Amino acid sequence: MENKRSSWGSNLGFLLAAIGSAVGLGNIWGFPFKMGKSGGFAFLIIYLLLAVFVGMIIMVSELAVGRKTKLSPIDAYQKISKKFKWIGWLATIAPFLIMSFYSVLGGYVMQYIALNLSELSFGGEQIAISGSAAFTAIRTQPFGAVVFTVFFMILCMVIVQGGVDSGIEKFNKVGMPALFVMLVIVIIRSLTLPNAVEGLKFMFVPGYAVAAGYVAEAPDVVSVLGLAGGQMFFSLSLAMGAILTYGSYLGKEENLVKNSVIIVAADTLIALLAGIAVIPASVSYGISQGLSPAEIAGGLGGPGLLFITLQDVFANMGKIGPLFGVIFYALVLIAAISSAISLIETVSAHWIDKDLQKGETDTRKRIVLIVSLLIMIPAALVAADGLGKSSFTPAALMGIQGNVPDVIGDWLDFMDTFSEYLMMPLGAMLMALMIGWELDPSIVLDEVGHGNSSKGFAKFYSLCVKFIVPVVMAFVLAGSLKGNCGGSATMWYIFAGIVLVGFWIFAAVGKKKAEE
Ligand code: PHE
Repeated sequence: MENKRSSWGSNLGFLLAAIGSAVGLGNIWGFPFKMGKSGGFAFLIIYLLLAVFVGMIIMVSELAVGRKTKLSPIDAYQKISKKFKWIGWLATIAPFLIMSFYSVLGGYVMQYIALNLSELSFGGEQIAISGSAAFTAIRTQPFGAVVFTVFFMILCMVIVQGGVDSGIEKFNKVGMPALFVMLVIVIIRSLTLPNAVEGLKFMFVPGYAVAAGYVAEAPDVVSVLGLAGGQMFFSLSLAMGAILTYGSYLGKEENLVKNSVIIVAADTLIALLAGIAVIPASVSYGISQGLSPAEIAGGLGGPGLLFITLQDVFANMGKIGPLFGVIFYALVLIAAISSAISLIETVSAHWIDKDLQKGETDTRKRIVLIVSLLIMIPAALVAADGLGKSSFTPAALMGIQGNVPDVIGDWLDFMDTFSEYLMMPLGAMLMALMIGWELDPSIVLDEVGHGNSSKGFAKFYSLCVKFIVPVVMAFVLAGSLKGNCGGSATMWYIFAGIVLVGFWIFAAVGKKKAEE
């Protein structure tokens, strides 16, 4: 049965696919806007620390568990753990929920490509359409949003149906280099705009964001930790089963630590480059419009960045603007597709594996079709809701009016809160507790090194997986729940603390009885 299971054509193909999964809306949209929201440099430093001490560790762990078991998340966890066998379900339901809004955002991006293309064909005669006009139009036309979501889903579905090496790997082999070239073009344009240096200072000069009046006060470390931690996980595709699934198609001879370093470095580099493409352009545009630093940061620091501020940037660039608009939104589309296909693959892989075990080898196309159709059900709801423009937001259905917490404000936030802000930190914490306390770090280290991993890495890994990752994840969990659900910080810290200690006891007690 095992030799019929899919595998990558080459390690490079795997790397490009994993980088493709990692590089997505999280890098190009989330990273710059969260950096804008938390005032630049401090966010960057915390993000980098987390990527090394937590992201890398989970990345290695997921790849190792995937490759060791050669199974999709549900079966993989069932195989290695007695107590945590159900984590695999978290890592399958979460990608399903993420796809329900990711596909809608992918559809939005397609609409912006169409918009800029049509402006281009008017040769700049027509007044370019402002970001807020475009975004309002998109959000209030449920039919258009659903149709474009379907387009996006079909594109992704066809790629995943093509298979691991001849669909996913092939797409990324062309898509990732193309994305990089387009990003460089946009960066050159962005950095040659007047006052672009001001945007660079915002990003890279410590304390500048506060000193120059972009943000009123330096945000507290704990809330930046929540924001940067959530962002880092989402951006690296961690604790969502995706990296585990991709790792399960990887050959025994490949170096997991080296691969993890490359994936984390590439993802972080693209996030930084996206910041350099997006932030200076937005700051330059804001200054040209006579906006105050606080107003500029407002445009940067919110979800409107991708769909309002940047569309304004392109609309005000003169005749050539729509061309840069097309290039930019096309690169965002590639990034979104390469991530979405990893999510669809993760959800589908369980049933593909099941059929393989029954000796049925040709069911990928059918399973991927069914999974895509199932994703379309919540996706249609998210699309029609238009980020809370509808009369059937979660809050409205519950009969709650006025100022509501984000989580029930619209269907996108609702799905996002459960997947990105609850299941993801929880999944990562539980995985670390499982490896560090129920089992033993050697379960990963053996797979990583096949007996020859360095002593230094083994020590570093054990320390991080036992202590650092679970504790940091508790902070991230508390920070993200507070950010999305409101309430007092203390309450969420107590909650996260109880979850951490509870599961730690659960993992550690009676360890000897556990298998392996
Ligand atoms: N990493 C992707 C992004 O940055 C999103 C993603 C999350 C993809 C989890 C797969 C799994 O947009």
